Amino acid sequence: MQVDILVIGSGIAGMMAAIEAKELGSNVAIVTKKSPMANNSFMAKGGINAALNNMGDGDSIENHIQDTLKSGLGLAEEEAVRIFCENAPQVVRDLYRKYKVPFTTLPDGRLAQRPFGGTKYKRTCFAADATGPAIMKALNKTLKELEIQTITNHFALNLLINDGKVAGATFLDETTGELKIIQTKAIIVATGGYAGLYRGYTTNITDATGDGVAMGLRAGLEAMDLEFIQFHPTGLEGTNYLISEAARAEGGKLINSDGKEFVDELNTRDFVTRAIVKQLQRGKKVYLDLTMVDKEIINTKLINLKKRVKSLKGIDIAKEPIPINPLAHYTMGGIKTDTYGFTSIEGLFYAGEAGNNGVNGANRLGGNSLSEGAVFGKLTGYEAVKYSHRQKTFVDIPKETVEKDKELIERLRNTKIDTKRVKHEIGELLFNKVGILRNGYALKKALNKLKDLKNSLNVNDETDSNLKEKLECVNAIDISKALTKAALYREESRGAHFRLDFPEQDFSFNHHTITKLED
Ligand code: FUM
Repeated sequence: MQVDILVIGSGIAGMMAAIEAKELGSNVAIVTKKSPMANNSFMAKGGINAALNNMGDGDSIENHIQDTLKSGLGLAEEEAVRIFCENAPQVVRDLYRKYKVPFTTLPDGRLAQRPFGGTKYKRTCFAADATGPAIMKALNKTLKELEIQTITNHFALNLLINDGKVAGATFLDETTGELKIIQTKAIIVATGGYAGLYRGYTTNITDATGDGVAMGLRAGLEAMDLEFIQFHPTGLEGTNYLISEAARAEGGKLINSDGKEFVDELNTRDFVTRAIVKQLQRGKKVYLDLTMVDKEIINTKLINLKKRVKSLKGIDIAKEPIPINPLAHYTMGGIKTDTYGFTSIEGLFYAGEAGNNGVNGANRLGGNSLSEGAVFGKLTGYEAVKYSHRQKTFVDIPKETVEKDKELIERLRNTKIDTKRVKHEIGELLFNKVGILRNGYALKKALNKLKDLKNSLNVNDETDSNLKEKLECVNAIDISKALTKAALYREESRGAHFRLDFPEQDFSFNHHTITKLED
């Protein structure tokens, strides 16, 4: 198969890239590992940031820029932040007017906005507490209307690069079990992040295994700031259910088992998460208390939360506090790109959580991820179109990479791997040793264990799993090693990376961590 522009991944960044490319007249296809709605963008709840100043509190693009830079703690790249904040208002307006996302509105028809953490402004637009599904359904409808070719159940294996230029990519067609090659002039990788590797301790869908990051590392690209893993303060205790920041935005308070408030719940997520961990370490439980919030607000703006907490825990959130603990939620690190998603390989772009253009630095503001995905997805789509127009012909497919992929598939087919065991062990290891509070000793132990785990992929287990699960394990181990190395390198504490053995921010680490596969 041949296509001018290939988008890998169907979250908000991938969809916006594909839509932009198609609207500009390009021949584009989007490939997804499962289906267009099976991604973390669909799971997003609380909202999408854009400095619209609809609530009349004096918000501005400059305020959004300054809040984002401040939260990035010296590692957010000003150019990326400026481009992001300047474009977010128009992109959100387009989502509403052009793509018909059913956002919650004010009586005068403008978009309502709520206050998220790390700012004093009401900047987060929303569709009740189900913003992700509202956006993704609307974009998927657009994808169909524009007749963008959508290829489902295809697992991206490797990028095909010839003489420093993109030639295509290989995929496992999960339906037939066959290896497929797609030849293309430009690729946009928008496969999402790797917080799903914290299995058992994450809000992410199980598919968020960072395959695009692993694929980039294998192609020789550099990853940037992999150590910065954002833990969301409020996971529903004992589940992977995310209690949206919207609950705190609408007046919810964090209290401990003595009924005492202990933190400003709308501080940045790294700060609130560590405050919660401190309480848990002292033997307290932590709750999100919504009992004082207006019932009308609960029944309209937090209605999905109300239903889910009732069904999962039997708790009526209007009457009882909800037990919570932090869960891995988002990864600031990814494949290094410039502001517009260009990598060091010609014709290869990264967008959204899989890439890192420095927009978040050491910590991401709640509500910035959907708008970041939308803004940079669109801009990267535009750049890919310009690039593909300059390419007169397709680049030849490098046969060696295809042969290697065939060999890998054969080897994995013939080795019994209990992927549940491997993924569970990775989740436990990352949470306990590369989690919210880290130290050098535990990180080194984690690295050794990851080497053992990699070796265990060559030894037959009693139970077998499907090929896609096995490929995810290969990726998971590579990324876990790379992120652990990055965490070991950064001997300081900054944003979402906290080292108990180096508890202060150290200005000699005022630079990005660069990791390569062989490091
Ligand atoms: O809490 C939330 O609704 C999550 C938002 C985000 O990660 O941006």
